[in-house]
Amino acid sequence: MKKRIAVLASGRGSNFQAVLDAIRAGTVPAACVALITDNPEAYAIERAEKAQVPVLIIDYTSFPDRAGYEQALLAAMQECGAELFVLAGYMRILGSGIVRAFPDRIMNIHPALLPSFPGLHAQRQAVLHGVKVAGCTVHFVDECLDGGPIILQTCVPVMEDDDEDTLAGRILEREHECYPEAIRLFCEDRLVIEGRRVRIR
Ligand code: GRF
Repeated sequence: MKKRIAVLASGRGSNFQAVLDAIRAGTVPAACVALITDNPEAYAIERAEKAQVPVLIIDYTSFPDRAGYEQALLAAMQECGAELFVLAGYMRILGSGIVRAFPDRIMNIHPALLPSFPGLHAQRQAVLHGVKVAGCTVHFVDECLDGGPIILQTCVPVMEDDDEDTLAGRILEREHECYPEAIRLFCEDRLVIEGRRVRIR
C-alpha cells in the first residue's frame, strides 16, 4: 500500500528530486501528493511541475505576521492529507503548533552527523572545526532544532583540501541515497520510535 507523502522545500530541491526519482523507480512505495514551498522562486517548483506534483506556495512575506503564515501552512499540510511530511531544504523553522500536529510524521535531512553541527552552515562548521569525518542525518522532527530521533546517518571523509563547498558536494551525494532510503523504511512501516532511538524492523 502506497503512503501519501508531501515535500517541503525552499530552494533547488535536489533532495526532492532524489525522492521523486526513487518513487518513479519503484524503490519508495509512496505517492507524492504535494510540494509545499515558502519561496515562489524555488527551483523545486519546476521539478514538481515536471513530475505533475501539485504545488502549494505559502509565501511567508505575504502574511502580516508569523502566526498568519503558520496558520496557512498548518491548513495546507492538513488539507493535502499526507501521512508523512519530508523537509528537504525547507529554510524556515516549523512552529511548535505544526510539529505537535504531526507527531513522528515529519522528517528532516541535515548535512552533518547530528548532534554535531546543528543549525545553519553545517558543512562550514565541520570544516572550521577540523573534523575528519562528516556526513548527513535523517531524523524525525520534534520541537528541538535538528534534535529529533535519528533514523539514518551516512558518513563521508573530510579531505585535507576540502572547503565548505567541496565537502557539501560530497555530503549531498550521500543525502540523495539516504533520504529515499529513510522514506522507504517509513513507507514500509519499518521504523519504530522508542524514546530517542529509532529501531529499524
Ligand atoms: C541539503 O544539504 C539538506 O541537507 C539541507 O538543505 C540542503 C537542501 O538541498 N537541509 P536541496 O534543496 O535538496 O538541493
